[in-house]
Amino acid sequence: MASAVSSIKPAVVPSAPPADNPAEALLPGEHTLPSSWWTSDKVFELEKRAIFNKSWLYTSHASRFKKAGDYYAFTFTGINFFLIKTKAGEIKAFHNVCRHRAYPVVRKEKGSSTILGCKYHGWSYNTEGTLTKAPHFDQVQGFEKEKNSLYEIRTHITDQGLIFVNFDQSEEGPTNFDSWFEGLQDEMHEYDFSDYEYYMSYELDGKFNWKTLMDGYQECYHCPTAHPGLSTAFKMETYKVVPKSRYCRHYAQIVKEEIPEVESNTDPDEESSWFGFGKKKAAPKKEVETKKKNPGGDFNGLWVYLFPTNGINCYSPAWYSIRVLPIAPGRTILQYDIYTKKGLEDDQKKEFVDFLQTVEIEDYNLCEATQKNLNQGVYSTGYLHPTKEQGVVYYQGVVRDMVKDHWAQEKLAGGPINPAYVGGKAPSDEAAELEVLCKEVECQGSNPETTSPFDW
Ligand code: FES
Ligand SMILES: [Fe+2]
Repeated sequence: MASAVSSIKPAVVPSAPPADNPAEALLPGEHTLPSSWWTSDKVFELEKRAIFNKSWLYTSHASRFKKAGDYYAFTFTGINFFLIKTKAGEIKAFHNVCRHRAYPVVRKEKGSSTILGCKYHGWSYNTEGTLTKAPHFDQVQGFEKEKNSLYEIRTHITDQGLIFVNFDQSEEGPTNFDSWFEGLQDEMHEYDFSDYEYYMSYELDGKFNWKTLMDGYQECYHCPTAHPGLSTAFKMETYKVVPKSRYCRHYAQIVKEEIPEVESNTDPDEESSWFGFGKKKAAPKKEVETKKKNPGGDFNGLWVYLFPTNGINCYSPAWYSIRVLPIAPGRTILQYDIYTKKGLEDDQKKEFVDFLQTVEIEDYNLCEATQKNLNQGVYSTGYLHPTKEQGVVYYQGVVRDMVKDHWAQEKLAGGPINPAYVGGKAPSDEAAELEVLCKEVECQGSNPETTSPFDW
């Protein structure tokens, strides 16, 4: 199942999916998680602690940070943070929380400044997050500026410039990026991100649970019925989702004219009957001729789902990322960033975005209608197809395992464990005592052993 492509080799072509084994009997499928997991406030809060505050989450691409001080702000599951290019040329992430009284330090979605001044009482930080100015605190005994830097968030930037963050501040810390997404780095070398530049972003606000969207995202079983227009872009019967290490590769053979020269090509490099793109690989002339017939471009994509809620989808004219941001059990924001091939004509850019949005709106409508029924309490769980929906089986399994593991830890600890919590790193003795008091008040009368699950 692993990609045969080794890393950082020139002229790589995207790999084909593993072949089916026709002799293999289809094992019985699994059922979906129960619908209560799509509607419960308590499960939603637990998912935030158990999944989102422990996972590597995609944010943006490094090419958007041109100079020192360029920053972009985000809110993921209620956590406000920003990425900034430091004077040393690194990209760092910080909680957007002033160390004085917690006002947001950055108040725009994006901007550029090498001095970040808090607009509440005027504290200032540099691009490294270090507190450089705290008006009238110079004479305050015992106040140490160096202990009041912005809280930094772990980042990982892939060779391709894809920037991830991880909020896990627990003692053991998060799983290392390359173990978490084992093999991902190599597969991403199958596409030349350096040949693309940022084009535009947009977002959708949906009345559905984040998993309602991911369920549809992780299979194309619904494509023939729900996306009839996609049949002009790729051969739906070839669509395959292959689970890997907390990510899934999506494969499909694109539609192009039947060209004997391409079809009969036996050069392994020309396995691009699957993928007519790749680094430094010129498309055969006839493929170019077919380009206008398929708005998705002239090659099959490098499409990757990243657990829990991100996608990186690379086509020939453009690639785009999706961030699925849970807001509430029944509300989710979808954010798309599109990067187009350098030099691409404006009408081709627009054509690509139109193609994308048509499919997205179809999915969006499926999700809203599905969620309404999930909310009704008459349905609980349904049967998943073992191959056509194996991406759903896979990601829901990871959700289930992470939630169950975390819940077990919380039961042992006797209260919620939030891995993203940074405030307790160096509390004063009094603050620590008052935290304990608050916990006691919160838990009064409840015994985690006897109350129902998720009752915190
Ligand atoms: S909250 Fe930022 S300076 Fe007071
Ligand atoms: Fe869809």
